[in-house]
Amino acid sequence: MDVPVNQRARSGLEFLGALQGYTGGVLQQAAAARYAEVVTDPPLDLAARRASVRAALADHGPWLFDRLYTRYVAEEIYVRSIPAAEQARAAIEEWLDVPGDAPGSLTLDPEVATPDYFTAGFHLTTGGWDGHDLMGVVIHDLGYRYVLVPGGVGAARAGESLMDHRTQVAREAPRRDYRHVLELGCGNGRFATVLSTEFPGSHYTGVELSATQLKYARARAVHEGRDWTLVQAPAEATGLPAGSVDLVAVFTLFHETPPKATEAVLAEAFRVLEPGGDLVIGDIAPQERNAAFRAVVLDWETEHRGEPFMRSYLQLDLPALVKQAGFADVEAYGLGKGDYPWIVRGRKEA
Ligand SMILES: C[S@@+](CC[C@H](N)C(=O)[O-])C[C@H]1O[C@@H](n2cnc3c(N)ncnc32)[C@H](O)[C@@H]1O
Repeated sequence: MDVPVNQRARSGLEFLGALQGYTGGVLQQAAAARYAEVVTDPPLDLAARRASVRAALADHGPWLFDRLYTRYVAEEIYVRSIPAAEQARAAIEEWLDVPGDAPGSLTLDPEVATPDYFTAGFHLTTGGWDGHDLMGVVIHDLGYRYVLVPGGVGAARAGESLMDHRTQVAREAPRRDYRHVLELGCGNGRFATVLSTEFPGSHYTGVELSATQLKYARARAVHEGRDWTLVQAPAEATGLPAGSVDLVAVFTLFHETPPKATEAVLAEAFRVLEPGGDLVIGDIAPQERNAAFRAVVLDWETEHRGEPFMRSYLQLDLPALVKQAGFADVEAYGLGKGDYPWIVRGRKEA
C-alpha cells in the first residue's frame, strides 16, 4: 500500500536508503578493491575467508565504516518505520481491513506450532516478524520501499528490484500450465503476486508462520483481486493433502532455516507434490560460488544483521538435500551477478 508518511518520516527513511546505497556502493567497493590488492590468492574455505578479510582489512577505514553503517541502517529501519506506521495507523488499518467474504481465504492458527529457530529475531526486526501489529507494512512499504530497495540488502545490490528477481525465479519453473501452485514461506505475498501473474491459470496457496505477514498478504490479495488461499502453518507441516499441488515454489526461505528444518521442508514439498510436479527454489548462491570477499560480506550477516542461519546456509549442499528428499532431475545454477538469484529445481517423478 502507499502509506501516507509525513515529510519528516519519509526523509528520515530516505536518508537511511541513501546511506545504505553509499556504504554498499562506495565504501564496500573500496574495501573489495583493497582486499583484491592485498590477497591475490584468497582461500576457499569460509572460516579461512573470514580470517583473511579480517587480517587484510583490520585497519581499513572504508571497510570498518561500511560494516558500522550497514548495522546502523538495519537497526534504524525499525526505529524510524514503526513510528511512521503508527502515524498512519488509521489508513493502514483501513487498507488491511478487507471483507471476510472476498474471494480466497486466510486461515490463522493461534496455536500454530512455531519452531524454536523461528523466534531467533530475523533482520533485527524489533520483536521479530510479529513484534508489531503493523509489521507487514513496516517491512514492505516502509523498510523495503525507502531503504532496502534503493540501498540494497543481502545478495541484492542497490537499485536491483527484488520483484524482478522473483519473476526470474518463477520463470525457471519448467512448465507454464500449473493448476495448483504452493509457496512455502510466502511472507506478505510479494512472490505470490509474481506467481499468480506468471501462472494465470493456477490456484495459489501460500503457507507462512507469521500472522502479520499473512494479514498483509490477505489484504494484498483482495486489493489485487486474487483468490489466494493463505494458511498459517510451518512449511515443515503444511497440513495440505499429499499429492495436491503441481508446483512448489520457494523464494528466500532457506537462508532463514537451519539445515534440519530445510530437510524437513523439502520432505514436505515432496509429499504435497503430485507425481510429475516441480519444485523451484530461488535464494542466495552457496559460498563457493561467491568471490571470497563477497562470501564474507554475506556471512557477516549471521552475527550482525539478524540472519542466524546464513552461515550454515552458505555452506549447505542444497541440491544434495533436494535429491535426498526424493527429487529427480535436480539442477542448480545462478542467474545474475554473483549467481543471484541461485536456482535449485527438481521434479517428483511421475
Ligand atoms: C525472506 S521472507 C520471503 C517471503 C516471500 N517468499 C517473498 O518472496 O517475499 C521468508 C519468509 O519465510 C517465513 N518463514 C520462515 N520459516 C518458516 C517456516 N518454517 N514455515 C513457514 N514460513 C517460514 C518468514 O516468516 C518470512 O516471511
